[in-house]
Amino acid sequence: MDQASSLREMVKGRGASSVRRRTLKASSTRVISITSGKGGVGKTNIVANLAMAFAGKGKRVLIFDADMGLANVDIVFGIHPRYHVGHVISGEKELSEVIATASEGVDVIPAASGDTAFADLTEGQKLSLMAEFEGLDNLYDIMLIDTAAGISSNVIYFNSAAEECIVVVTGEPTSVTDAYGMIKVMFLNGTKHFKLLVNMARGIQEAKAVYATLSQAADRFLKGVVLEFLGYIPFDDHLRQAVVGRSPVVKQYPGACSSKSIIKLADQILKSPPSTSGTGNISFFMDRLISGNNP
Ligand SMILES: Nc1ncnc2c1ncn2[C@@H]1O[C@H](COP(=O)(O)OP(=O)(O)O)[C@@H](O)[C@H]1O
Ligand SMILES: [Mg+2]
Repeated sequence: MDQASSLREMVKGRGASSVRRRTLKASSTRVISITSGKGGVGKTNIVANLAMAFAGKGKRVLIFDADMGLANVDIVFGIHPRYHVGHVISGEKELSEVIATASEGVDVIPAASGDTAFADLTEGQKLSLMAEFEGLDNLYDIMLIDTAAGISSNVIYFNSAAEECIVVVTGEPTSVTDAYGMIKVMFLNGTKHFKLLVNMARGIQEAKAVYATLSQAADRFLKGVVLEFLGYIPFDDHLRQAVVGRSPVVKQYPGACSSKSIIKLADQILKSPPSTSGTGNISFFMDRLISGNNP
């Protein structure tokens, strides 16, 4: 039975009367947002491929597509989900009906279309959304959030609500400047720790140079910020071909250089769990997201 169908089983029979806030329990689901200042830096592809790499290591992964404008996790996987999280918010569908299976071990919550402001929901919508998401902590080991680019309030809410935040950047000066802008806004919003991932790099030197530029600026202007170098993914034509083929590169071309570095990255992430365990699960995430009560 896949995760989506286990969830369907679990929520079967649960009526609107059970929709109420319950005590939040800590569990082991890691919630990681993947974000950037500038668009087109590779977030969606990194999310899809990291998810595949985690699943390859036996992890159960849920992708939350939070890019309302350019929702394209489904395109990278070549799936055509019928419903999205907006249907859950409107009460038309249960979350279990909306979650789509993208690949073995990888499920997706498709993005709501338009401008759904998670912090602007009615109390009733917030409670039912909390209740819908409540069971997920038992079903997934990792939730990856694919955010939109930029510093819109929705993106900041998603990033601040997640326990871990990976900022994707390329060597392009505009991408570096926008990454700094994103880190600054998040920092002023209360996030202290960021993991920097350089994508489409020509090598470790370029990646380290990008990191040095950002960490120097951050050290100077954002006192107390921690910017961790997570590594880099090389520029790789195979990754582009995989997008055309509608299946993640780690699946289509496992031997490609981008695939190898993503698999290595997945190992590295699994080996370094967050230090603030206990508040990192999906229930806490949703609570922070919809209350705007960020850390
Ligand atoms: N490592 C890479 N090497 C080559 N092309 C890449 C790489 N990562 C992403 N791309 C390409 O960059 C484009 C934008 O990627 P995407 O994941 O949609 O970015 P975002 O989600 O940040 O907007 C896509 O055409 C994708 O194929
Ligand atoms: Mg994207």
